[in-house]
Amino acid sequence: MGSGIFFWVILACAAQELLASNCTECDKSKCPPAPISCPGHGATDPCGCCRHCARHEWEPCGGENWQLGYCDRRYRCAAVNGTGNVEIPDTGVCKYVGLMGDYWMDDDLNCPLVYGCQVRMGFCECTAIRTCVDYFSYSDDETCKKNNPFDMGPPSGPEEVDYSSQICWNTGCDLVGGRCECGRSDCGGPDFKFRTQKECNDALVLVKCADVHCPEPPKMDCSNDSAITKTYTPPGECCPTVPSFCTCDFEKCAKCPYKETKVNVRNATGFPGDCCDEFYCVSDQET
Ligand SMILES: *[C@@H]1O[C@H](CO)[C@@H](O)[C@H](O)[C@H]1NC(C)=O
Ligand SMILES: *[C@@H]1O[C@H](CO)[C@@H](O)[C@H](O)[C@H]1NC(C)=O
Ligand SMILES: *[C@@H]1O[C@H](CO)[C@@H](O)[C@H](O)[C@H]1NC(C)=O
Ligand SMILES: *[C@@H]1O[C@H](CO)[C@@H](O)[C@H](O)[C@H]1NC(C)=O
Repeated sequence: MGSGIFFWVILACAAQELLASNCTECDKSKCPPAPISCPGHGATDPCGCCRHCARHEWEPCGGENWQLGYCDRRYRCAAVNGTGNVEIPDTGVCKYVGLMGDYWMDDDLNCPLVYGCQVRMGFCECTAIRTCVDYFSYSDDETCKKNNPFDMGPPSGPEEVDYSSQICWNTGCDLVGGRCECGRSDCGGPDFKFRTQKECNDALVLVKCADVHCPEPPKMDCSNDSAITKTYTPPGECCPTVPSFCTCDFEKCAKCPYKETKVNVRNATGFPGDCCDEFYCVSDQET
């Protein structure tokens, strides 16, 4: 491939930026248990350290070494106050950026370059993008084509047998020393007590937190241009470690109609109560 040098240059730059991104050395023993499945995508934090489930709208993110996690596709880890993105070690919140913010089109400068393949319009498309979220379905062209009935590629030799469909696994979790340990074993191997991480965590918390009373959250009244963020309770803990905040919901701000351009009279500060720019709309000129 002719783009080899280009690829390594990008990789070197990415490594440079990671060094400049306020991460301390990774200590994987301090990571929460790695998830075995997620409601959305799995992710690795921008420090390249902990695996976690990517966060969704109004969930906290960021924090020291990104220990509060990173946002899924179509969300950004925004600063709680202001219009920009979070700068760790501050706590951020995942805000919707819409369909245009798809990672496919939009490299994420916080994240390393990752190569992989996706089926698009019936064909395997392989590319490298910068992402912290598990974006690609396949690690390489060959695996993609093997799994894609529409893109068979050149006829191959003898039939290949996909052994992965014949192997069976048990996945699940057990409570070990006050922690949920998850993994998988071969069929016929030991059974797990819990089928999912959530079941295990719920059981753990039920026992551990029976007599714990979490402080009452303060009553919050957010202005009409903002939203209340979700609290965060680390796996296996009883009480939230990150409280709720009021933060701008930029989706609530008015927009210019299609084929009109927004001209700001005054920029919003991005603090609740001042979330929306003052602006007028001008019709797009023919060019
Ligand atoms: C956001 O700004 C408000 C008002 O200045 C302040 O009370 C609040 O603590 C700030 N929140 C965060 C998370 O920095
Ligand atoms: C690193 O942290 C410092 C404060 O501790 C902050 O001023 C700076 O903007 C942060 N840099 C990045 C890239 O987040
Ligand atoms: C919030 O309320 C104020 C005053 O009633 C109004 O001018 C403003 O447009 C509202 N903002 C949003 C985003 O609904
Ligand atoms: C608003 O911010 C943009 C970019 O940050 C800047 O180019 C523009 O001049 C600002 N507009 C006003 C009215 O301050």
